Amino acid sequence: MSTDTETIKGRYNLSHIIGRGRITTIHRAQDSFLDKPVALKILQTREQTELKTFKYEFKLLSQLFHPYLVQAFDFGYTKERFPFFTCELVEGKDLKSYTQEFRQNDFISLLKQLIETLDFLHLKGITHGDLKPSHIIIQQDANSQPTLKLIDLGLATLGKQQDFSNWRGTQGYIAPQIIYLKPSHNWMIIPFHI
Ligand SMILES: Nc1ncnc2c1ncn2[C@@H]1O[C@H](COP(=O)(O)OP(=O)(O)OP(=O)(O)O)[C@@H](O)[C@H]1O
Ligand SMILES: [Mg+2]
Repeated sequence: MSTDTETIKGRYNLSHIIGRGRITTIHRAQDSFLDKPVALKILQTREQTELKTFKYEFKLLSQLFHPYLVQAFDFGYTKERFPFFTCELVEGKDLKSYTQEFRQNDFISLLKQLIETLDFLHLKGITHGDLKPSHIIIQQDANSQPTLKLIDLGLATLGKQQDFSNWRGTQGYIAPQIIYLKPSHNWMIIPFHI
């Protein structure tokens, strides 16, 4: 496992942990080449299916460019041979924490941003697959307006899904068409109800 003082790939100086997933840890790191802080996500297993999914997430995030979608920069392996990738560091609160501070105008603006981002993905045939409050991080822009970043394409799928039997996701946020095993492009849930 990586330690807090480690330098990865001779380029990334690891700082503290800023998030944890099911089998990942996300650190703040300083990219000495780009000379800026980044988020560095390490997969804490070498299991082949998880590795394939992790690489796929990196590939998608590094090829998609949208202001409200987190962008990935670099892929590599730690000294212990755990895969990692770097991406934009999003400094803000996730949607669940942010709801405590909501103003009505913020809500409308954030909803528009989220729909715009999902539309961008859907037009490319991509389904996020794990849309939930902890994957929506709210930052303040230069004018102190709330701006969101959608993260985690770890369960994203490309193309029309006909078979939902192996679908993964988060209980409470799974789309109706998956629960009812019925493909549909007309249904979308937005996790603003929390
Ligand atoms: N680019 C980022 N900038 C800032 N924080 C981040 C970033 N990426 C992830 N995080 C933090 O780490 C948490 C976990 O990240 P993420 O959801 O990408 O991991 P995961 O392994 O895919 O999780 P899971 O599989 O459990 O959904 C996020 O909820 C968020 O708090
Ligand atoms: Mg996640």
